Amino acid sequence: MKRYKLAAIPGDGIGPEVISAGLQVLDALVAYEGSFALDVETFPWGSDYYQRHGVMMPSDGLHRLRAFDAIYFGAVGSLEVPDHVTLWGLRLAICQGFDQYANVRPTRLLPGIESPLRRVAAGDLDWVIVRENSEGEYAGQGGRTHRGLPEEVATEVSIFTRVGVTRILRFAFELARKRPRRHLTLITKSNAQRHGMVLWDEIFQEIAGEFPDVSTAKELVDAATQRMVLKPRSLDVMVATNLHADILSDLAAALAGSLGVAATANLNPEGRFPSMFEPIHGSAFDIVGKGIANPVGTFATAVMMLEHLGESAAAARLSGAIETVSASGVRTPDLGGTATTAQVTAAVCAAIAASPPHA
Ligand code: IPM
Ligand code: MG
Repeated sequence: MKRYKLAAIPGDGIGPEVISAGLQVLDALVAYEGSFALDVETFPWGSDYYQRHGVMMPSDGLHRLRAFDAIYFGAVGSLEVPDHVTLWGLRLAICQGFDQYANVRPTRLLPGIESPLRRVAAGDLDWVIVRENSEGEYAGQGGRTHRGLPEEVATEVSIFTRVGVTRILRFAFELARKRPRRHLTLITKSNAQRHGMVLWDEIFQEIAGEFPDVSTAKELVDAATQRMVLKPRSLDVMVATNLHADILSDLAAALAGSLGVAATANLNPEGRFPSMFEPIHGSAFDIVGKGIANPVGTFATAVMMLEHLGESAAAARLSGAIETVSASGVRTPDLGGTATTAQVTAAVCAAIAASPPHA
């Protein structure tokens, strides 16, 4: 039997609530499938750990994660520790340290869920945003001088490298090629950002030649927000810089009903390092401990993780169970329902148990 080593990092806020729900669902899935096992080790890293130790994770943290097949991550961010400390100390430290340069953010309208857009049905909104995840606006380059003085200066430098841009664009083309519509939209801002974004446009053109079976489009990021709202069917896969994709993916999640259902994978596609899977909602302090966090984003994250591990039958079963429960109306308050995290989790476990065996 195949065994996978899974590192769980529940982190802050509602992270522990949703990761615990996710692990329960994975247990139910493993029990049903019987063909693979997950050896889960949980790491207590995050803002509480920071309060006690002065660091978000121990200095050998990456070294300890290295041996795992995948990382299942909850959320990071707390009211007590500044965001840039929590983020750079844990999540970005893992993404950058493990060269997880491809961030994949699928958005689909689940059955039974109403989009805030009028006249949008399930099949109309089915996108994947590919986010560059290693450089760009999140490169961490820049600095501050003359702190606190009137002449204080801060720079936040975006870094775009030919290697970095080429690999993410090629990844996006490969992904688009595997989808039925085979359509890839480059999100750019090369009208105003005349260096880095022009490099993106040029490399996109170069690579497009290698993928004659993928149709392409180019959209400025501001115009892309309009297209997402007004012509959602005209989009399939979008590829964008770190910051542009960050913003568009929140819009995408909201148009699909709630940030609570959105999943993401931080991939090191070559498999040199473990990849990391997380819901995109974040810590959500306002609902911590209330038992109403939406676990669906974390379940959808598990679907991506299982696909990455090569367990596509299990991934499809979990995805089906999520849809069944969504269609049945068992929903947390963010989606207008009254169910608790535990009730949604139990419903998904039951849907797994009731799903038909493999043909
Ligand atoms: C996301 C989040 C993060 C990001 C935050 C927590 C810094 O918004 O994953 O989209 O901007 O990358
Ligand atoms: Mg974001």
